[in-house]
Amino acid sequence: MTTALITGATAGIGAAFARRLAGRGYHLVLTARNTERLWRQATELHDRHGVEADVLTADLATDEGIAAVEERLGETAHPVDLLVNNAGFGNKGRYLEVPVADELTMLKVHCEAVLRLTTAATAAMRERGRGGVVNVASVAAFFPRGTYGASKAWVTQFTQGAARDLAGTGVRLMALCPGFVRTEFHERAGMSTKDIPRWMWLDADKVVETALDDLARGRALSIPDPRYKALLGASRLVPRGVLARASSSTGRKYGPK
Ligand SMILES: NC(=O)c1ccc[n+]([C@@H]2O[C@H](COP(=O)([O-])OP(=O)(O)OC[C@H]3O[C@@H](n4cnc5c(N)ncnc54)[C@H](OP(=O)(O)O)[C@@H]3O)[C@@H](O)[C@H]2O)c1
Repeated sequence: MTTALITGATAGIGAAFARRLAGRGYHLVLTARNTERLWRQATELHDRHGVEADVLTADLATDEGIAAVEERLGETAHPVDLLVNNAGFGNKGRYLEVPVADELTMLKVHCEAVLRLTTAATAAMRERGRGGVVNVASVAAFFPRGTYGASKAWVTQFTQGAARDLAGTGVRLMALCPGFVRTEFHERAGMSTKDIPRWMWLDADKVVETALDDLARGRALSIPDPRYKALLGASRLVPRGVLARASSSTGRKYGPK
């Protein structure tokens, strides 16, 4: 029996991971804050794919929420073979417009929770000599883009470093860095998406399919679209100031969609 635990499993990229992994026969532990939505999704995946789907309600902005997921990851009787640290959100506004408490909540969910859950999972996986972790970062990791970009840069660097440290143990880690994906993310943050060109939008199911292929190939970094790979390559040739200006405005306007 192969089991995957997905954080932020009720919407967007996390829900796409849940669908794709259920399709591949994984049993699932679905976690997020909204219990009713989690149960609806668990029932749907069980009915469609015949897999077991457990629900774990946890707010990863709290110590209790993180501890509850850590505990599940450490259960030896029901081991988790694949952890997807996906839960995340955007804050409305630029630096000094966002209350510092909201920035700290972002660091808790994007960095502290990812560190603690990755550690709980990989410690158990190393004992068993196999397992995988996908940490969902963003292409924002490579651009000057406030606390959001900085938190995703941390996720990317941390994951690539840990992957190197655990090489040869049977445990794989991969940072997933998608560009703009059509999910609930922008609406939840109250961000307008009008200024984001159509070509920049990715489909969550395709992002996940590429990510799982990259994980199987043993990659520590997945940038799941040739357009974004080209964009990242080109960005290395652009002066930092120009990059900072462009990055700080694209997709960061606030208001109706
Ligand atoms: N969409 C994009 O353009 C994009 C691009 C690159 C990277 N990403 C990253 O992809 C990941 C998923 O984002 P998405 O676009 O799929 O967003 P989404 O559609 O808004 O889904 C976010 C998920 O995270 C959960 N979540 C949010 N805050 C949480 C908390 N404090 N504790 C536990 N769960 C929480 C939500 O469920 P509940 O509300 O029920 O908790 C939901 O299941 C994030 O890490 C995001 O930074 C997104």
